[in-house]
Amino acid sequence: MTFPSRLEQTAKRNKSNIILALDFPFEKVEQRQKLLFTAQKVLDAAHPFLCAVKINHHLTLPLGLFDGVQGLVQKAHDLGLLAVMDCKVNDIGATNQVIAEYYYSAGFDALIANPFIGWEEGLKPIFDVADKTQRGVILLVYMSHKGALDGYGQTVVDAETGEKTSQYIIFAKKALQYKADGAIVGATYPEKIREIRQILEEKVPIISPGIGAQGGEVEAAVKAGAKYLIVGRAVAQATNPATAAKEFRDRADQAL
Ligand code: XMP
Repeated sequence: MTFPSRLEQTAKRNKSNIILALDFPFEKVEQRQKLLFTAQKVLDAAHPFLCAVKINHHLTLPLGLFDGVQGLVQKAHDLGLLAVMDCKVNDIGATNQVIAEYYYSAGFDALIANPFIGWEEGLKPIFDVADKTQRGVILLVYMSHKGALDGYGQTVVDAETGEKTSQYIIFAKKALQYKADGAIVGATYPEKIREIRQILEEKVPIISPGIGAQGGEVEAAVKAGAKYLIVGRAVAQATNPATAAKEFRDRADQAL
């Protein structure tokens, strides 16, 4: 089964389209094991209101992929959730292939990659590894932060049509062409979600980070066409992660 089908099935079963970013502040290196306990505790509390977790350098750097993070991925699976690696792969193909092989070996169901690197000797080797291992590749299309405008939002000339367009429009078309398993579009830009959704239709699900701490609104993102919402600090660092996760889940549910 493909990653989008598995994610959809999990979201239906758990009645949630919330992906929790397990992000925590810097911890003193000598005390970094505390991060593992915190992540486990947050996951235990919030999992009934999630369809997946997303892990970033916040945990892979201090804990290590196979010494700490692999156990968390296993825990997410045991709790009935999928696991996404937010590594934004962005290198040459030979390196990307090895990066993908390690993350998928650790159990991740999908990873995030940057389409700026292009297809040949860039993204293709990642998709090849994903196909072989039946995992997913999610592409950035428009990031959630302000500076996204400088890259994803720049005006470019479409090599195929010769017409001026925006970089993110090209990336949305590429996500469709490459049969990506998801497209990241910041929840902070609902108008971009709407525009990109018209290109992707139902074929590539839109996954939106930026809810909560970055100011993105659940209702606006969902109504514009986001299928899954990524929430990090507003849940992972909340006083009560379960209550916070449930609130986001319920709001998304209502907006749908
Ligand atoms: P917060 O705390 O802001 O966390 O809810 C968001 C999480 O998602 C990551 N992030 C992104 N990842 N494309 C991505 O692939 C994006 O546009 C994007 N915006 C935020 C962020 O690093 C954090 O882990």
